[in-house]
Amino acid sequence: MTDGSKGTFLSVRDLAHAFPAKRGLGGPRDPVPALRGVSFDLEEGRCLAVVGESGSGKTTLVRCLLRLVEPDEGEVLFRGVDILRMSPGDLLSFRRKAQIVFQDPFGSLNPRLRAGPMLVEVLQVHAGSATPEARGEKAESLLEMVGLHRSHRTRFPHEFSGGQRQRLGIARALSVGPELLVLDEPVSALDLSVQAQILNLLKDLQERLSLTLILVAHDLSVVRHLADRVAVMRAGEIVELSSVDRLFQDPSHPYTRGLLETVGWE
Ligand SMILES: Nc1ncnc2c1ncn2[C@@H]1O[C@H](COP(=O)(O)OP(=O)(O)OP(=O)(O)O)[C@@H](O)[C@H]1O
Ligand SMILES: [Mg+2]
Repeated sequence: MTDGSKGTFLSVRDLAHAFPAKRGLGGPRDPVPALRGVSFDLEEGRCLAVVGESGSGKTTLVRCLLRLVEPDEGEVLFRGVDILRMSPGDLLSFRRKAQIVFQDPFGSLNPRLRAGPMLVEVLQVHAGSATPEARGEKAESLLEMVGLHRSHRTRFPHEFSGGQRQRLGIARALSVGPELLVLDEPVSALDLSVQAQILNLLKDLQERLSLTLILVAHDLSVVRHLADRVAVMRAGEIVELSSVDRLFQDPSHPYTRGLLETVGWE
């Protein structure tokens, strides 16, 4: 174990992953190195933003943290325990503590399940002995928690607006009572006005539920809403890791300065 990491909520050390090469027309190709030696610590209750241009490895990083992609090397210590070496039983209980919300909730919501039954199904898998009535009540209170109405339980995913659908995706992630919520571009598919509403919701939920957040974003203005610290990625590496205020006031890496200029912060 890495020194000093035991008390840390999440401690990532030297994480590396390359996607296997596919045979191309010109013969074998080299593996695609998507993550190279990524390390950082995250304290409980904080929000770390991960930014960087398309293809820099942001999604691969967060997928490796949740073991949705198996990294080739490194350690991911969650409260001092390496999730990459957990038993299947421990991994299952880790999955209750760490949830992910994707950019496009359509891709992760079953189109044939109405909102209420979808939440009830997740609660049934994870909440053990609760009665059907208790699960129904909990599903409705989850809808309310994310700013939807109890009556929305009868709607199918396609019957919601984009912003409402993202709220439903968040409700589903919250249904298992996570401590860590990973958000991969949670608002980039939404209109600007709706983006602000969802970001406010996330901030409110973070405080109410004492959540720790990892927020992947292209857009640095989104980062300012929520994050305490920012990791800037480039070509699979973290090239800058600093507080939000310092990053915006005094970016140390030329690449970060470039990113800030692109979005009009100088
Ligand atoms: N399943 C995969 N198979 C092969 N290569 C992949 C796979 N997923 C990602 N990659 C490659 O790994 C690198 C990092 O991709 P990743 O999706 O992590 O980037 P990203 O920063 O999330 O980009 P975006 O901002 O566009 O979402 C890219 O070169 C990408 O092409
Ligand atoms: Mg991505």
